[in-house]
Amino acid sequence: MPTSFYLNKTVIVTGSSRGLGKVVAYQALQSGGNVILHGRGTEDALDDYFKDQIAKGKAFYVSGDVEQMETAQQLVSTAIERFGRLDVLINNAGISNKGAFLESAISVVNQVIQTNLMAVLQLTHLALPHIVQSKGSILFISSLAAFVGLPGYMPYSVSKMALRAVSESLNIELKRQGIHIGIIYFGFVENDNEKYTLNPSGHKEKVPPRNKLITFTKEEAGFCIEKVLRKRQKRKTPGITGKLFYCLSNYASFLFFKMLSRQYEKQQAN
Ligand SMILES: NC(=O)c1ccc[n+]([C@@H]2O[C@H](COP(=O)([O-])OP(=O)(O)OC[C@H]3O[C@@H](n4cnc5c(N)ncnc54)[C@H](OP(=O)(O)O)[C@@H]3O)[C@@H](O)[C@H]2O)c1
Repeated sequence: MPTSFYLNKTVIVTGSSRGLGKVVAYQALQSGGNVILHGRGTEDALDDYFKDQIAKGKAFYVSGDVEQMETAQQLVSTAIERFGRLDVLINNAGISNKGAFLESAISVVNQVIQTNLMAVLQLTHLALPHIVQSKGSILFISSLAAFVGLPGYMPYSVSKMALRAVSESLNIELKRQGIHIGIIYFGFVENDNEKYTLNPSGHKEKVPPRNKLITFTKEEAGFCIEKVLRKRQKRKTPGITGKLFYCLSNYASFLFFKMLSRQYEKQQAN
């Protein structure tokens, strides 16, 4: 259940126009936070609840590609100009791809790395002085794809693995500043109907609904994010699947690699 963690805090949630980010932004607003919403569409396309919060001055919307420096600057400056502070940056916006590296256009590889890694570094760099001032939090939304180089999803794996390095380095570099740096490795989170992945030629392909048995609802994932922020946890791998994935990749890597390899070969044969 949500607590008062977000109360009066200023929170940037990248990629909050839909999916998990939208639910996190909703939960933060419901708990009394001030939220900088972000997506690439127009403000008109936002939910009525968000429009209402914008009208009340509790939320502001920044539209733009997260990779663009202007978007990152606008996200941070909106937080400071409108609310006078920045307490939490949730680096959520992300994109996935599928397809073997050899068959994938290099533009797809670039796009995934730019969105999931370079844009995160840029925004984090801009936000950090303000987070240091508020002794707040920076959160990275990663994936189980960070634990092993997933065949067929390599650029995505690379980008999510790199976030681990980012969070670990920053945790040590910024220890004395008293700020919280956290990372969450999600497994499957319930999809929005509009969720897509990029195919090898860069076209959008709808992501089919996931098996509910191993899937977190967006609300559950949002509560998990709130808990990590509230408890200032450094890393979290939620759920049984996540823990299993973590253990296999760390303590039985040879076996795990063999399993992945066999599964990939099977898929290729079909
Ligand atoms: N869903 C899962 O099972 C799962 C599992 C592990 C980790 N994750 C991670 O959790 C995060 C959220 O996933 P999700 O399932 O909610 O994804 P989603 O439904 O596809 O939503 C992605 C959000 O990111 C925004 N976005 C993507 N590329 C952008 C760009 N270049 N510039 C600006 N905004 C951009 C999208 O905005 P537009 O509306 O403008 O496209 C959208 O708001 C991602 O980082 C993902 O990798 C998800």
